[in-house]
Amino acid sequence: MPKLPSPRMKLDSRDRAASGVDHDEALRASLLAWYAANKRDLPWRGAENSYAIWVSEIMLQQTRVAAVIDRYMAFMERFPTVTALAAAPEEEVLALWSGLGYYRRARMLHKAARLVAADYGGILPAASAELRKLPGIGAYTAAAIASIAHGEPVAVVDGNVERVLCRLAGWEEGEPALRRRVEERAARFLDPKHAGDFNQAMMEMGATLCAPRNPQCAICPLLAGCRTRGEHKTAPRAKMQSRAVGCALALRKRRGRRAGNDAEVLLEQRPAAQTVMPGLWELPILRSADVAAEDLRLRVRHAIMQVNYDVRVRAVGEREVKALTVAGGRRRWVPLEEAASLPLTGLARKILTRLRLLPAAQRSQPR
Ligand code: ADE
Repeated sequence: MPKLPSPRMKLDSRDRAASGVDHDEALRASLLAWYAANKRDLPWRGAENSYAIWVSEIMLQQTRVAAVIDRYMAFMERFPTVTALAAAPEEEVLALWSGLGYYRRARMLHKAARLVAADYGGILPAASAELRKLPGIGAYTAAAIASIAHGEPVAVVDGNVERVLCRLAGWEEGEPALRRRVEERAARFLDPKHAGDFNQAMMEMGATLCAPRNPQCAICPLLAGCRTRGEHKTAPRAKMQSRAVGCALALRKRRGRRAGNDAEVLLEQRPAAQTVMPGLWELPILRSADVAAEDLRLRVRHAIMQVNYDVRVRAVGEREVKALTVAGGRRRWVPLEEAASLPLTGLARKILTRLRLLPAAQRSQPR
């Protein structure tokens, strides 16, 4: 990193008073100018409609922008309005969420859409306080929707914004009442006249320049007000565990079919009581992840939360299924052309996509 002037010198309150310029005001202007020049061109940007912003913000929780774009486009094409979403069966909503993970978000979004259709005439409330009453909309999402769609002056505090504010102020993790201080600082720092752009600029800055590792301080629009300037403590990265898992690919010819795409695959539905991905469809799990080289059809890596799975897929004949797989949820032979529209787990979709078993139009972008 290039050598920078001491942040404390720049922040001297006498200098500020002498210059007569409100320090936050200058920083806000700098941030907004940076955002105007550098904001990413994303499909939900410029949307007037609060439903589109709602969907994008829910998808963006815990998920990278790059992974969201295609899913967002497909979702909005199928469910262009709250009413269209409310009218859809849950299975279809989950199927379009496939690959994004954290399916509870999709279930809550769907539930809230039904409530909006039934109780609010299909129109999402405008005020953040009203939005917060809907399932799945917490302080962050309510502030994002209300500020971006309606200009309500409420500050968004997600993980990225929190990091930016902590670095600006020189606050470290573990300090007492940190979250409350961050929220108060965010509220004071917000530009009330440009709340939507300001909030998006803060999130964007945190996601791009003020990244957890290797922040780009030299080109940061908030450099003049930053107390740490790259000299912050970095939280250690959570250690990923590695685990091997085997999946059974059982295919058979569809009964009574003579030609065309006539294969079906054995899928298993995760029980509704599961905390992770309840109700989603996956390939049956093999009793042993040790798959002999001659049986191996595919080997893929798949990360779920803090675990890196080394997934080995082997072909299993219809009559071997019982002996080779672990009994789990309900199983069903599903025609391949139907499989793509079921709510598959990200891993099942990845495997079927890599093996070119899904109809081309419904393949996902492998993640
Ligand atoms: N992350 C989540 N929502 C965002 C938004 N609207 N702009 C930039 N980054 C985001």
